[in-house]
Amino acid sequence: MNKLTDCITNKNSSYFPIWFMRQAGRYLPEFREIRKQNPDFIKLCLNEKLSAEISLQPIKRFDLDAAIIFSDILMIPYGLGQGVEFKKGIGPILGDLNFNVILNTKPNDFIKKLSPIYQAIKRVKKEIRNKNLIGFVGAPWTLLVYMLNKESPKNNFDINKIIKNKGLMRDLILKLEDIIFLHTKEQIKAGADIIQIFDSWAGLLPRDKLSEYCYAPISKIVKNIKSLQIPVICFPKGIGENYIDFCSAVKPSCISIDYEVDPQWIREKLDGIPVQGGMDPKILLGNKEEIKKNIEKYLNTFKNYPYIFNLGHGVLPETKPEIIEYIIQIIRDKK
Ligand code: CP3
Repeated sequence: MNKLTDCITNKNSSYFPIWFMRQAGRYLPEFREIRKQNPDFIKLCLNEKLSAEISLQPIKRFDLDAAIIFSDILMIPYGLGQGVEFKKGIGPILGDLNFNVILNTKPNDFIKKLSPIYQAIKRVKKEIRNKNLIGFVGAPWTLLVYMLNKESPKNNFDINKIIKNKGLMRDLILKLEDIIFLHTKEQIKAGADIIQIFDSWAGLLPRDKLSEYCYAPISKIVKNIKSLQIPVICFPKGIGENYIDFCSAVKPSCISIDYEVDPQWIREKLDGIPVQGGMDPKILLGNKEEIKKNIEKYLNTFKNYPYIFNLGHGVLPETKPEIIEYIIQIIRDKK
């Protein structure tokens, strides 16, 4: 059985499966080479051959336990007819949001528009043996943040502007729940055997809004994916002590923790739910001794517990590929 499935579904703790968020990306020279020739990021995500090739780059280099399809969470707004562009040095910039266009997008038109992603998954699936293939989606809240804010909320964000029109928010969330599930279903049909849901901006929500905008919509999607017998990993980044409430409300198959979560604390609070990740990606930019110490903190904490090694967020572009190799060595030597 593939290692992540064995860890999540059978709670096998005799091995720490390894993969990295953003394992395909700018820290790899072979990715930068392809990217240089393909300045339009959306087009690159819709190039099934190159997207498959990029997904396989970290697998070939590091022999990781899972491939994740090279795509982006913002392919959903794109599939719903909103303009999406990635500007160098700035990040994603979205076009004006036309509610009628979004709310009236037909599932079949959406699937057609994104079909190269599903074709890329089929290609990757053919190339990997005994490894998981992770499909992914953004959670409704994080997608709404980008769709309404039209740029990263990192520099400029006012939550009151976003949630002021309650009726509209409700309609958009309902539409997103359906479309997100549709997108996961198509990824599963194409060969994805695990789904990860990224709620990267859950941490922007005040505690009294988490239930409505984070837990409830994700819960529905998780339930639907689980009904297809596919495990779901959830990553509600930045919600601190609310990770426990998240797990009680959503019941994910596995919870991916960020670097602000104390691993010992969560292990004690969770009722045996498999855990993924946690280590701060910035540590990877420092010296090897510090890196080793940090890895050991996670491995010792999750000894005899179903744990997937990953980071507390994506690999940073400044990371040296040799460091990824070094980490994998340490973890595989341990068991
Ligand atoms: O290897 C993998 O993990 C699979 C590919 C993947 C990408 N984006 C490719 C990508 C995944 C899983 C994502 C998810 C994603 N995209 C998230 C959730 C995870 C997270 O980081 O919180 C979010 C919020 C996005 C939106 C997004 N895409 C931003 C804000 C940016 C620009 C800044 C950045 O982080 O690079 C992107 C661009 C993007 N997505 C790149 C890659 C490889 C970089 C593109 C480039 O400039 O070459």
